[in-house]
Amino acid sequence: MTTTTTVMKTKESVITTLLAILLSSLNYSAGQLSADVVNVNQLVIIANNPGPVISKDIYGHFSEHLGTCIYGGIWVGTGSKIPNTYGIRNDVLFALREIKVPNLRWPGGCFADTYHWRDGIGPQSRRASIVNIHWGGVTEDNSFGTHEFMKLTELLGCDAYINGNLGSGTVQEMAEWVEYLTSDSDSPVTRLRKENGKETPWKVRYWAIGNENWGCGGNMTDQYYAGIMRQYSTYLNNYGGNNLYKVACGPYGDKFEWTETLMKDQSTRNMFQGLSIHYYSVVDGWDVKGSATKFDEREWFETFRLNYDIDRIIKGHKDIMDRYDPAKTKGLVVDEWGNWFIVEPGTNPGFLYQQNTLRDAITAAIHLNIFNQHADRVKVANLAQMVNVLQAVILTKDDKMVLTPTYHVFKMFREHQEARLLRTDLRCEDYRYGNSKIPAISASASVNREGVILVTLANLNPSKDIVLTIPVIGASVKSVTGQVLTSDQMNAHNTFEKPEVIKPAVFKSFRVKDGTITVTMPSKSVVALEIK
Ligand code: AHR
Repeated sequence: MTTTTTVMKTKESVITTLLAILLSSLNYSAGQLSADVVNVNQLVIIANNPGPVISKDIYGHFSEHLGTCIYGGIWVGTGSKIPNTYGIRNDVLFALREIKVPNLRWPGGCFADTYHWRDGIGPQSRRASIVNIHWGGVTEDNSFGTHEFMKLTELLGCDAYINGNLGSGTVQEMAEWVEYLTSDSDSPVTRLRKENGKETPWKVRYWAIGNENWGCGGNMTDQYYAGIMRQYSTYLNNYGGNNLYKVACGPYGDKFEWTETLMKDQSTRNMFQGLSIHYYSVVDGWDVKGSATKFDEREWFETFRLNYDIDRIIKGHKDIMDRYDPAKTKGLVVDEWGNWFIVEPGTNPGFLYQQNTLRDAITAAIHLNIFNQHADRVKVANLAQMVNVLQAVILTKDDKMVLTPTYHVFKMFREHQEARLLRTDLRCEDYRYGNSKIPAISASASVNREGVILVTLANLNPSKDIVLTIPVIGASVKSVTGQVLTSDQMNAHNTFEKPEVIKPAVFKSFRVKDGTITVTMPSKSVVALEIK
């Protein structure tokens, strides 16, 4: 039996939860209690004292100049036969609007620290070509640059998250990019923007000061990066009404010393609003990885064991941040996360093209539930990556497009955006494999401005349906509707030939009695319940 409780800070809230657990236990007769406590799966929801707002930006995405994420996947150019708007393919655009993309990170990744923004502006025919040294050594013609990216964010109705080049660029270059984008003053740089067809400045919310500067972004030490980041940040101005949310490069996974270095000194802390971390789930390590579609139960289990580790990692960074920033003015920005498998057979190893199965859907549910639960500190997160790369929400091939199981999870979870986290207490059975065990259920709950409660759940067990009771304390349960994403096969996935093998269905396997919902979750499933 595993117990997880959403972290609470006040004494009053601790008492409320204990009371709620006690109350819900009283639903069982004395004789039942001792036996059932071992078997019962229960998610208590405290609905009358909502916690922090779940930042919509936890549901962010990432588009790098890598493989066919941008070229082919998003950008086809205005001359393409594929229906497009200003060169951006319509099918992908319309699908992305459905999941309410809140922010989009660009142009990398490792690519960002080799990117020189002036290569990607001005008439297409005069743009410089470069070689994409990190990703397949292909020639990049820069036909997708600043104006095209900003147009994409406009069409999606999302915030831009631009990753500046600290690794191989200059302070002046990054400072002028911010000026080009956001300044309304008259200067050579803003005149250049106007010559390129944009009279008024854009708004840019998120700005990363380098990417993975401990690795592909310059192989720096934490102290060296802290110093150089301070220098860059000094010159990244807030022009007019544009206030940058500056994101300092943080470490990979649980390399907590880097976070300590950036957080401990107030004058360093003052230079950023967010601290990034990256974490990928890589089955059997970077030298092996596993296949995205051909896997057994060991790899299924191992994937989720690795996914759950994001909770420990976030807690570790939070502890450090809480020590130096108890008022929580700095956000944790998990701007790369997801499963990383070996590429599909026959594809360019540098393009990181992988299929996406029901396993990835459960991975997404585990991560998004954990991010929700850490809404007090996690303010931004970006799935890697949006189209055709790693754990993508969309795959394309010429004029065809498929929505992946991960896409469907983002859609099922989208109403968590800007809702308030509800305190929950989850007691559930373990999912065991060999000598290891992990919680069989992942869950989170929120309430939106209209009072609608969204509960999102995943049953990780591939061969066992699980009955979960959900007492809702402090709100009446008048109606419940549900959606489920599941399949008979652990590796169910959509292909260009069969694009709807796995998609959400209406879920009715629950009953409601006296404010308690009893749900039968199918094995290997993601379930979303809307409670009114
Ligand atoms: O997402 C792929 C790569 O993974 C990114 O370019 C880099 O930041 C990370 O190592």
